[in-house]
Formats: sequence, C-alpha cells, structure tokens
Amino acid sequence: MRKQIIVGNWKMFKTNKIGVRFIENIEAKIKGNPNLIVGIAAPSIMLSDLTKVAKNIKIAAQNCYFKEEGAYTGEISIPMLKEIGIEYVVIGHSERRDIFKEDDELINNKVKALLEANLVPILCCGESLEIYENGKTMEHVKNQLTKNLNGISANHVKKVVIAYEPIWAIGTGKVATPQIAQDVIKAIRDHLASMYDQNIANEVLIQYGGSVKPENIKEILSQPDIDGALVGGASLIEDSYLGLIE
Ligand code: PGA
Repeated sequence: MRKQIIVGNWKMFKTNKIGVRFIENIEAKIKGNPNLIVGIAAPSIMLSDLTKVAKNIKIAAQNCYFKEEGAYTGEISIPMLKEIGIEYVVIGHSERRDIFKEDDELINNKVKALLEANLVPILCCGESLEIYENGKTMEHVKNQLTKNLNGISANHVKKVVIAYEPIWAIGTGKVATPQIAQDVIKAIRDHLASMYDQNIANEVLIQYGGSVKPENIKEILSQPDIDGALVGGASLIEDSYLGLIE
C-alpha cells in the first residue's frame, strides 16, 4: 500500500510571523497518521522558524539550487536546507518553469542532487492549456519526466514524489476531472514502468495538483493511481487546510 501525501504550496504568500502562527494552530488540531504525509511548502525565509514549531507537518522548500555552494547570488543550497531539517523540496513547479525559465536539464540536476543528499524531490510536471487542447498531454508529460529523471537510478526514483499539475487548472478554479487526472497519472505510472519496472512504478507516490479544495479532494484521492495532492490557494487558510487533511 502506498502512503498518501498532501502538501500545501504557499507560493509567495504570508510573512514569517503569520506562517508560524498558522503552523502552531494547525499542529494543535491534528494528530499524526502513519499512512498520511502532510506538508507545507513555504517561502525559504520562513523555513527555519516553521521547522521549529512543526511536529506532524513536514515543512518543505519550494526550490533549491543543485550546487553545494558557490557564487550563486540569491540561491539556496541543499546543505542549507538539510541543516534545518528540511526533507522535501518542490522542484520544477510550472511557475518556476514558465516565469523563471527553468529548463528540464536544470530540473534534472536539482532532482539528482536532492536524491544524492537523501532529500525527497516533489517533482512537478504538467501541460499548458494549448497542449491539453491539442491532445498532446501524455506526450508532453512523459517527455518532461524522461528528461527530468534522466540518469536517476531505480533505487533513487522510488523516493521521488511526482506532482502532476495541468497548468490550466492551477489557480484558475478549473479542476481536471478526477477521471482526467487519473488517466494522466496512470500514464505516468506506466511510463515509469517502461523507464524502470512495474514494481518500482507501483511504489512511486504521484500527486495531483490544480484547484484542489476540501470539497473535491475526496473524489480526486479516491482514484486508484492518485496518492495525494499539491494544493496552492486552498492551503493558505487554516480551516481549508484542515479540511484537506481531514
Ligand atoms: P492551486 O495551485 O491549488 O491554487 O491551483 C496548485 C499549485 O500550483 O501547486
């Protein structure tokens, strides 16, 4: 049985004090569940303080650079994240790919570096509206994963969390129907089976993301290949975040 993983993505919202209060309030209301990983991917400036108050909630980073150290102004290294106890790092979010022009090779380097450091990449993939309307979703997503997982061993790939996020469903209120999400995620699992083998593919956790809310999460997670959700907007409000994980 695969675990489930629900991660809120705060993007560039909140400030440190507000973030800390949010985590304290949620921690007071939840109990740990060994079959469910819950997390919040927070802006980097908050990570250190949030890890101090988090118990059941895994505090995740939204990005990192792949080099250990060096002259990379504005970047955050994996050793910096490790030292404060971060285990999960979101990589290749569509906003990083589109706005900050991160390409597949850079994303591949980040995934490799995280796995070598024993951290878990939450590797995002997904298609634009144009690709979706042209019926090229599967081809596009498989191509992203082939490139982003290039050179990664079977042993390492089992640790990767994949987040399938159709870009046309992010922050738009348009959710891919549970059936669309299931079909693409099943195709991702089949693709992993062809890149590695079926047993490996069966172990990988694959999330859906894009306008997930407390009202629709249950139906999305009831799909056989969907193991969790990456949630933006609905993770910003305490009651709504609690609703997602309840
Ligand atoms: P959304 O964002 O839930 O607000 O659509 C999802 C994401 O970008 O991870």
